Amino acid sequence: MEDSIDVILQDYGRIRPTNRPNPVLSACVGALLTGLYGVWRMFSMPGTRIIPSNLMVPYLPSSKGQTLNIMQLLEGRTGCLADLGSGDGRLVFAASSAGLQCTGFEINSILVAYSRGKACWRAVPSSQATFVRKTDLSTYNNVTAFLSPGLMEVLGEKLLKELPDDACVLTTRLPFPNWPQRTSVGSGLDQTFAYDISTVRSLRKVQKTVVS
Ligand SMILES: C[S@@+](CC[C@H](N)C(=O)[O-])C[C@H]1O[C@@H](n2cnc3c(N)ncnc32)[C@H](O)[C@@H]1O
Repeated sequence: MEDSIDVILQDYGRIRPTNRPNPVLSACVGALLTGLYGVWRMFSMPGTRIIPSNLMVPYLPSSKGQTLNIMQLLEGRTGCLADLGSGDGRLVFAASSAGLQCTGFEINSILVAYSRGKACWRAVPSSQATFVRKTDLSTYNNVTAFLSPGLMEVLGEKLLKELPDDACVLTTRLPFPNWPQRTSVGSGLDQTFAYDISTVRSLRKVQKTVVS
């Protein structure tokens, strides 16, 4: 009887291959996945060492609908435009083709390099479209932003401090909390909101007077 069980087990082991993982294969798959994650992170997440994690915004390109809504709200506007978090530069190129002098502000240096390369490739002069990493907004009378909900309040304070009185701010998908909208176009995820800085400042003054 003992013999026959041994024989059965030996035969079973021969028929059924062992399920032990191959260490070389596991290491290769692990290295590949880590590499892919690293490439994805480089492109999609801004410089994580520069800003706190609660203010980080991943790269998510504007849809065609969002871009069209922005362009509709920019009709008749002239001067300089700042796109905050310009990604691959698609809004900058669209707005510069409508005659505005555009600057894309982008924290992710790979996306800055990509946008600059695209501008070179399309022969767009730097007087029409430039891409930088630092922001001084005092010379811009048009601002576009597609960032994240956690950033809107901080961004709103910065814009109120730095922008000239005739500036118009357009945001897609995310409105500013407590800012009076001039108008909005589109709906759902493509909805785009327009604000006049002078109106927001006037409301702030009234609110401060009422409180004090
Ligand atoms: C949602 S994407 C929008 C991309 C682009 N504006 C578009 O509409 O296709 C947000 C972009 O903002 C960038 N970003 C996030 N925080 C930033 C910051 N503090 N300063 C500049 N750019 C920032 C991200 O790297 C990302 O490319």
